[in-house]
Amino acid sequence: MKKRVGIEALAVAVPSRYVDIEDLARARGVDPAKFTSGLGAREMAVTDPGEDTVALAATAAARLIQQQGVDTSRIGMLVVGTETGIDHSKPVASHVQGLLKLPRTMRTFDTQHACYGGTAGLMAATEWIASGAGAGKVAIVICSDIARYGLNTAGEPTQGGGAVALLVSEQPDLLALDVGLNGTCTMDVYDFWRPVGRREALVDGHYSINCYLEALSGAYRGWREKALEHGLVRWSGTMPGEQLARIAYHVPFCKMARKAHTQLRLCDLEDAVGPGPGTPEAREEVAKSSASYDAQVATSLGLNSRIGNVYTASLYLALAGLLQREGAQLASQRIGLLSYGSGCMAEFYSGVVGEKAAERMARADLEGVLARRERVSIEEYERLMKLPSDSPEAKAPAPGTFRLAEIRDHKRIYVEGG
Ligand code: HMG
Repeated sequence: MKKRVGIEALAVAVPSRYVDIEDLARARGVDPAKFTSGLGAREMAVTDPGEDTVALAATAAARLIQQQGVDTSRIGMLVVGTETGIDHSKPVASHVQGLLKLPRTMRTFDTQHACYGGTAGLMAATEWIASGAGAGKVAIVICSDIARYGLNTAGEPTQGGGAVALLVSEQPDLLALDVGLNGTCTMDVYDFWRPVGRREALVDGHYSINCYLEALSGAYRGWREKALEHGLVRWSGTMPGEQLARIAYHVPFCKMARKAHTQLRLCDLEDAVGPGPGTPEAREEVAKSSASYDAQVATSLGLNSRIGNVYTASLYLALAGLLQREGAQLASQRIGLLSYGSGCMAEFYSGVVGEKAAERMARADLEGVLARRERVSIEEYERLMKLPSDSPEAKAPAPGTFRLAEIRDHKRIYVEGG
């Protein structure tokens, strides 16, 4: 019998500060409705140089181990998906291994492909376990990033930062993955990129949205073909995409999930056999259905709207937000997930929510994690953004969190809050 493999539990780490998105709109002379209803944002996480990708990753992993009682001797693989690493050579994963005193027998590495890097890590870990090569060990996959476009840019209201740590094992209490059914699509494009040495990303914003939608179409159709073959969905009654209880998307800003869902429905409408809405205009109208968006997508966006884009972690924040709200009622139901990384790569996959999802999510205490943040003014946010990345301010980390204390001889030194 095929092994059940997937996500057993997760933990979230966020920066200690945030701004209210309406404050940012007013400071930029923009109608707040553009950021709230136009982009779907409420709050935006703000980092300072002490809260770097390593600190956030280590905090999320430590929280996962502590909240879920993980036996660290069973960890055989630690992967960090990130596009905002701190060294060209030394991986974030090696820092986490040392800071958390994790087994020296583990395999550690980072994975990079823009926002897709975390999913690349998750699939590497899942397939390692499913193949039997893991020999009963578990994996931790951490998605950790800081999204920075810079002050007064179009991307500014879509910034954010944080980390999600996933425990991957043969006991998928949160989500048992449909291994082998993933659909993938890759294209060589310059939609969003960050040349070596630059702190801020470069982006062709509207083009990046089109790339996301085109890659989504390829990945979804790839998954759908296999899901139809395996009898997971059918072309009868409702459309295949509608047979998924929920769909979590990569969320660079919340409105993107609505656009993505419309595109996924369009794929089904365009490919449907038998009578359907005939003209492209009629199909567009049906694809945009607010009822479908409300039923299948809206409930996943609570955390994303309060944190912003966290690149590799954005999809997993959507998954966390969804299971936090609906873990109990989704038990035993199949959901879809769409990962997108600029450059670009999309992967659509599915899984069945576990019976213990609600219990596992309660332990993650996501409300508490957000409630401990401090709201800062736009002046303070701008001051923090202007600090050089290599000289963190002296600040004691909160209990259970890590912080970059200093860089000495080009080596990064971290401290843990006691
Ligand atoms: P913009 O050009 O300033 O905004 O930047 P806009 O003019 O397109 O307006 C945005 C929306 O607000 C529009 O809604 C407007 O109609 C609406 P839409 O037509 O799209 O539905 N709007 C209003 N609504 C209510 N009241 C108002 C009002 N005014 C306007 N008064 C853009 C938007 C997303 C381009 C910008 O924020 C940006 O460049 N963001 C960064 C790039 C990005 O997020 N791309 C997403 C796809 S690529 C991706 O997901 C990968 C990524 O995560 C990176 C990685 O992989 O590593 C980014």
